[in-house]
Amino acid sequence: MVEQTAIGTSASARWDEHAAWRGPVRRAELPGGQQVWVVTGYDEVAALLADPRLSLDKKHASGGYAGFALPPALDRNLLNMDGDEHGRIRKLAGPAFSRRSSGSLRAAVARTAEEVFAALPESGSETIDLLAELCVPVPAMVIGELLGIPADLHSRLRDAATAMVTFDAASKASGQRLVAAIGWLTATFASLVHSKRVNPGDDLLSGWVQARDVEETLTEDELVSLAFLMMLAGLENAAHMCSNMIAALLTSDDAPETLAAWPTSRGLLMERANPLPFAIRRFAVTDLILGDHTISTGDTVLLTLFGADSDPARNGRPSLMFGRGPHYCLGAQAADLVIDAVVPQLFVRHPRAQLAVAESALEYRTSWRSHGLVTLPVLLTPH
Ligand code: HEM
Repeated sequence: MVEQTAIGTSASARWDEHAAWRGPVRRAELPGGQQVWVVTGYDEVAALLADPRLSLDKKHASGGYAGFALPPALDRNLLNMDGDEHGRIRKLAGPAFSRRSSGSLRAAVARTAEEVFAALPESGSETIDLLAELCVPVPAMVIGELLGIPADLHSRLRDAATAMVTFDAASKASGQRLVAAIGWLTATFASLVHSKRVNPGDDLLSGWVQARDVEETLTEDELVSLAFLMMLAGLENAAHMCSNMIAALLTSDDAPETLAAWPTSRGLLMERANPLPFAIRRFAVTDLILGDHTISTGDTVLLTLFGADSDPARNGRPSLMFGRGPHYCLGAQAADLVIDAVVPQLFVRHPRAQLAVAESALEYRTSWRSHGLVTLPVLLTPH
């Protein structure tokens, strides 16, 4: 009988839990009871992130955990595809987020952060939720503007992302929240695409509608799914990375040194604050031998990014927090710009900022998929 590792949902234990798994691979059980393989070592995770013997396409799954059951209008996204199909769609989304576009992206992030900081209360002892007031709006406005997604949708988009990452198969209420979120997302993104078709703007989504209607380079489902993925992946991950980093700084005695050495210290802080413990689930398309185990065709494989980054064998090599290979994060550069415009800037503008609650009272979402705060209550100018 193969020993099972339980994958937990605790945000405070997450790094230590993954760091304790040495491998290279182990059988594990998700909180919902589904079976997966977890690959842990830096070398193994780095290699398998870019290995075509692991597919992201659910058609290769044979009964283990396979991710969300989404309607085709959301499911035909980059994180469910491989090979040429994936490359064709990635080519459409890539340019706006590439190094070549970094000047305009940097300017947009700086302008947005300035606006959002200016809207924070200036003084007084009012507790504010920096997740809702700073860490969500900056990436949501930057990516929303690029894509052409109106700001009045941001808060519901955030709620929908939360319903997805906190989905618990054992809870009826959580299942109902997920179904409602998926229904709303499907209708909202379909209607956004429709409005860009009728009334195109100078934004990415209008460009992709053109690619669909004139050049026929993607299907309607692929178009809606691309908009959905870019917006949700961007908002959710960047917001929780920023708020986890701010929480870490507000609870660390070394914050002044970390902030003073920002260009060199930010990487380690990001690795530890990364909300995403695992890369997207993958499925073996052939039997794979790893260490003493055989991963059978169709089995689900989770590559742990925390496990890879905490592996002593990493030996100074680059973090894998943004992935590697064909699915390397399309928004990595945007995320870096947002983090730099939000995290150290908070302490420049509000050097006396402190948590409004004890560290132990900070509440994290219950999730094995993404470790993010529910709120980040802060006093900006305590008496
Ligand atoms: C700090 C925040 C972020 C982290 C830690 C992060 C992490 C990741 C990781 C690990 C992957 C690869 C998944 C895999 O291979 O299994 C990925 C893919 C992706 N990310 Fe990010 N991400 C972040 C921010 C963003 C932002 C801001 C955007 C959008 C602007 C974005 C859009 C995407 C997209 C579209 C993909 C899929 C790429 C593909 O499949 O080709 N991410 N991200």
